[in-house]
Amino acid sequence: MTAGVKQDVLDLLIEQHKQIKTLFGQLGRAEGTQKRELFEDLVRLLAVHESAEEIVVHPTAQRKIDRGDTVTGQLRHEEDEAKHELAALYDLGVDHPDFDRRLSRFADAVVAHATREETEEFPSLRRNLSAAQLGRMAGALRAAEAMAPTRPHPRSGESASANLMAGPPMAVFDRVRDTVRDWRESQRDQD
Ligand SMILES: [Fe+2]
Ligand SMILES: [Fe+2]
Repeated sequence: MTAGVKQDVLDLLIEQHKQIKTLFGQLGRAEGTQKRELFEDLVRLLAVHESAEEIVVHPTAQRKIDRGDTVTGQLRHEEDEAKHELAALYDLGVDHPDFDRRLSRFADAVVAHATREETEEFPSLRRNLSAAQLGRMAGALRAAEAMAPTRPHPRSGESASANLMAGPPMAVFDRVRDTVRDWRESQRDQD
């Protein structure tokens, strides 16, 4: 990230798509404790990313872009499936003999979903929203990230909130979604 350059919500989401792909690659090569930690990082990163899309980005796209209902309907459906598969992978556990095969299938689906957003949704949003609006929407991601740090971090220096943000994916997603909803409400108060 270039210091001093303010990234808008689409810049941040595209950067996270790259981080997600990198994490899938690392997870495919990891073992034992490192693999468990990387999977927890993936859960947090997907929780932050998909919650901001679900609560802030897709509702805006639905109203503002051509075929908004169809495009965001498909994206929401894919995100719902991904959340359930992530929960299934967590229940299976990283040491299960089927984990790698299912993770690889999950990675393909998540990457295809990200590509769909980058081709069918983000370019239209960039055309139809002002730079100020897209800049303001980045606040949703920053609020979510403050709650659930998504950058790799040494275990010893981990914050209490990061520890709290480990565990079943559905619970992590719920907590991050509450944070993004609070952020959205705080924006309404400013209008
Ligand atoms: Fe998404
Ligand atoms: Fe995305």
